[in-house]
Amino acid sequence: MTSPSLETRDLTIRFGGHVAVNAVSCAYQAGTLTAIVGPNGAGKTTYFNLISGQLKPSAGSVLLDGRDISALPASARCHAGLGRAFQLTSLFPGLTVMENVRLALQSRKRLGLDLWHVWSDHKDLVARADAVLESVALAGRRDTVAALLPHGDQRKLEVGLLMALDPVVYMFDEPTAGMSVDEVPVILDLIRMLKKDRSKTILLVEHKMDVVRELADRIIVLHNGTLMADGEPEAVIASPVVQQAYLGMAAVEEAA
Ligand SMILES: Nc1ncnc2c1ncn2[C@@H]1O[C@H](COP(=O)(O)OP(=O)(O)OP(=O)(O)O)[C@@H](O)[C@H]1O
Ligand SMILES: [Mg+2]
Repeated sequence: MTSPSLETRDLTIRFGGHVAVNAVSCAYQAGTLTAIVGPNGAGKTTYFNLISGQLKPSAGSVLLDGRDISALPASARCHAGLGRAFQLTSLFPGLTVMENVRLALQSRKRLGLDLWHVWSDHKDLVARADAVLESVALAGRRDTVAALLPHGDQRKLEVGLLMALDPVVYMFDEPTAGMSVDEVPVILDLIRMLKKDRSKTILLVEHKMDVVRELADRIIVLHNGTLMADGEPEAVIASPVVQQAYLGMAAVEEAA
């Protein structure tokens, strides 16, 4: 049994009297994509915020490669290898695609944010930036200003920036939300590609059960902040708690 790359122990947060995440203990192994499902308000995003350091827990801890990172701020967790995709908030809209990737690589190497001076001294970064742009299929857009990219390409760039940071753990919170039907497969392809790297640990919050079914090696279910189910996708999907949550959401989507 390999040691987990990421683990939460009794992770808990209370907002006033409401327990949004309730003593969630779960370990995640490298080479595994774990889907986190559950109805709206179940605590999925809050759980991510606790792991990435956007929120401080009321109790419990977060471990990365066996090291307790609970006391670290979000930026230090990012440097330690926790990679979280934030919808478009990590893009510099006024800079080109290539400049955005450069900045992500420089921050990874702690080279500061001087775009021009640093870059000419680090040819290895140029090669790495090219490789990142290739892998997210944006090589042809390298000189386009990020704000002028179509929405789907902006989302690809966001995944590219995450890849540039080369995290140990990738966290995606509804990565296809708000995307058009032709944009969704692009993001799913990127996640499939990341999955092939068996050294990575991927956490995916996703409501679309067909996506979960295809991508997940394991599913955990959050319900009212509590871990309700954890296991092989088919078994978890067939469980009454998921059936109820999924049917509930389908009804909401139909009504919308
Ligand atoms: N900063 C906050 N202050 C107070 N309550 C909060 C805060 N953040 C989240 N909550 C509450 O915690 C609960 C869990 O919310 P969360 O956003 O984690 O759910 P979710 O599972 O991500 O839902 P969705 O599927 O709709 O994205 C909700 O009741 C929410 O209102
Ligand atoms: Mg959420």
